[in-house]
Amino acid sequence: MFTLVSDPGQLESEAMTITKAVIPAAGLGTRFLPATKSVPKELLPVVDTPAIEYVVREASAAGLHNVLLITGKTKGAILDHFDRSWDLETVLEEKGDFQRLRAIQESAGLAKIHAVRQSAPQGLGHAVYCAKEHIGRDPFAVLLGDDLIDARDPLLSSMIAVHEEFGGSVVALMRVPRDQISLYGSAAAQPVASAVLPDGVFRLSELVEKPRPTEAPSDLAIIGRYVLDPAVFEVLERTPPGRGGEIQLTDALAELAEMPPGEGGGLYGVLFNGRRYDTGDRLDYLKAVVQLAAGHPELGEDFSDWLTGFTEQLERPAASASVR
Ligand code: G1P
Repeated sequence: MFTLVSDPGQLESEAMTITKAVIPAAGLGTRFLPATKSVPKELLPVVDTPAIEYVVREASAAGLHNVLLITGKTKGAILDHFDRSWDLETVLEEKGDFQRLRAIQESAGLAKIHAVRQSAPQGLGHAVYCAKEHIGRDPFAVLLGDDLIDARDPLLSSMIAVHEEFGGSVVALMRVPRDQISLYGSAAAQPVASAVLPDGVFRLSELVEKPRPTEAPSDLAIIGRYVLDPAVFEVLERTPPGRGGEIQLTDALAELAEMPPGEGGGLYGVLFNGRRYDTGDRLDYLKAVVQLAAGHPELGEDFSDWLTGFTEQLERPAASASVR
């Protein structure tokens, strides 16, 4: 286990029940080759910021200032990104470039970053299991780096509130068209009355990882945010390989859903209606870059103007084709 020494100070609040976040970042990123031959997929820029920094920012904004990255070979640059860079800071300071200086200092101060290596790619369930020693006996959050949640639509804090209300574990859900459900874990869902969220809270059962549309328990897809009871580790220990021959987190959650509350069981879902950007494959990544660039505080206006002209140009061939 590696721990960066750039201590963000008195970040951990005693009042918070959940302070630890786990971010799996061991994937090979083969869908992005050749870009990811020597650069970790997590560091690909979404506009001007590495994808993983959005995720660490989200964790930090929800009060999770203790972040464990599950990494693998060739992922060292991710740790460098969240470390102080004294030489770069000196150069920027001498130049008087305080805006960029602040930006690089900020990424090093978001959280205490720890890392543990996943020795072999055995699936998301195995990646989460690698966090067992670091997490100990406290509930914790898991954030998947391919899903970016817009900072204007906080999701984790609602999930933590629902965990505090009902106990057990909580996942984030989105409704998706039936033909897309096979890209996700899915669950059967019973609405429950919650005092913290007026609607959109469910008790979950019958979880299936990437079901065929005809076999899906509902049109509710699990998106990459979880608040988990540490009982998940004992369950993961005995979870056999599932879909794709990998140890699936969804399979462990299916078991947690059936376990009694006294043993850390119970599984809830929070429906997310906000803005989510998928960066999992090249097309989705490009869409995420365009959407976030259009809303960027400095570049957004100029980029949107250019994009409007560009899309008009794109439409021309189709228009002339219909005249013919
Ligand atoms: C993982 C999970 C899946 C979940 C999805 C959300 O799949 O296994 O249950 O719905 O993340 O993005 P992956 O996209 O890593 O294949």
